[in-house]
Amino acid sequence: MKEPEIKPSETSAGKLPSHVAIIMDGNGRWAKRRGLPRIMGHHAGVRAVERTVRAARDMGIKTLSLYAFSSENWKRPESEVSGLMRLFRMYIRSRVELLLKEKARIRFAGRLDDLPVDIREIIREAEEKTESQEGLQLVICLNYGGRREILDAVNKASSSGEIFPLDENSFRKYLYLPDVPDPDLIIRTSGEMRLSNFWLWESAYSEFFFTEKLWPDFGPDDLEAALKTYGRRERRYGSV
Ligand code: FPP
Repeated sequence: MKEPEIKPSETSAGKLPSHVAIIMDGNGRWAKRRGLPRIMGHHAGVRAVERTVRAARDMGIKTLSLYAFSSENWKRPESEVSGLMRLFRMYIRSRVELLLKEKARIRFAGRLDDLPVDIREIIREAEEKTESQEGLQLVICLNYGGRREILDAVNKASSSGEIFPLDENSFRKYLYLPDVPDPDLIIRTSGEMRLSNFWLWESAYSEFFFTEKLWPDFGPDDLEAALKTYGRRERRYGSV
C-alpha cells in the first residue's frame, strides 16, 4: 500500500526519531557486482558512514547507532576480519578531530574487551576526548551481540550484588550503554528483513524501515525517506 504524501516540515515537527539505528548490510554484494574484493565494499561502506553521520547531524538526530561488527562476524575469512579491523582503526583515529569540531560524541557498544588491544586503546581515547560534547551522539556497535549483551547484563547484575528479582529499570543499568535511549527507528539496507541480534532488549518498541539499497549506496535522501516514513507511523507501545 502506498503511504500518503507528507511534507518535509510535518516530519521534522516533533516526530523526528531521537535515536536512529542502522544495520549496514550489502557491502559484499556491492563489491561483487563490480567484480571487486569484498573489502572494497567495506571501504565504500565507510564513505556511506561519513555521508550518513553528516546527514543525521544536519537533520537534527540526537543519537545515531551503527551495527559495524557483530559477535558473529568473527566467523568471516581471516583476511576480511583483519581488513575490517584496519578500517575501524583508521576511521576512529581519523574522525576524532572532526567529531570534536562538530561537537559530536562517539561511544562504543559491545564486548570491547575481546577486541585487539590497540583498538581498545583507540576507542578509549576517542570516547574520553569527546565525552563532554553535546551534539550528535554516534554509537558504534563493535563485537556486539544482543543476546550477549543481555547475558552480560544478567551476570554483571549478579556479581554486583543486585537484589533479584530485577525489574526493567534495575536491569537496564547493566546494559552496555544504559543512558542511551532505545532506538525509535531501525533501518536495514540491502533488502534483508531481520534484526540479526542487534539491540535485542532495546528494540522492543522500535519502528523498522527496510530498503533495497545496498549500504555503500545509502545516502542523505535514503535517510530522509526513512524519517518521512517514521513521521507517519503511529506508535502505541501496546496501548490502543
Ligand atoms: C555487512 O555487509 C557489513 C558489515 C559486516 C560491516 C560493516 C562495516 C562498514 C560499513 C564499514 C566500516 C564501519 C564503520 C563504522 C567505520 P556484508 O559484508 O554482510 O554484505 P553482504 O551481505 O552483501 O555480503
